[in-house]
Amino acid sequence: ENNTPFTAAVITMSDKGSKGEREDQSGPAIVEILEKAGYNIVETMILPDEQSALQKTLIRLADQRQVSLIVTTGGTGFSKRDVTPEATLAVATRNAPGIAEAIRAGSMKITPRAMLSREASVIRNNTLIVNLPGSPKAVRESLDMVIDQLDHGLNILL
Ligand code: MTE
Repeated sequence: ENNTPFTAAVITMSDKGSKGEREDQSGPAIVEILEKAGYNIVETMILPDEQSALQKTLIRLADQRQVSLIVTTGGTGFSKRDVTPEATLAVATRNAPGIAEAIRAGSMKITPRAMLSREASVIRNNTLIVNLPGSPKAVRESLDMVIDQLDHGLNILL
């Protein structure tokens, strides 16, 4: 588990975070978990909840930077500004719904509100993209449920 050759990028979706009005704790939590699992983090960023900005960033990270794994946090709920799943599905070349299904099912044992997360998991060519909810608590819980299985998927994707 501790020597995957894979690169990863972490995107925090937050209007307040992108304006410096709220400290991002969820992005750093993802970085910590991914690094512990052996991933090489090549980029982290905070974006406003704008679908076109996220799509452009996902396409750049996948197509230009050839990042193996992109993890997003936030923007998966029912607020009108929550557009992360729409941007993620829009750039997908193939669906990979099992990861999001596993997170939602596992999270339902922690809080029934997990059913309100619209998070998606998809493939764009050689890149796996996984959405997580916004709170640091939800991020840690969710990523812990799937992290050990991701490198097997990435090995097959290459
Ligand atoms: N999943 C886990 N594991 N733990 C949580 O605390 N919170 C839920 C859900 N998924 C939660 C969770 C809540 S309250 C919401 S509204 C949705 O994720 C969407 O979160 P987001 O809008 O921050 O993306």
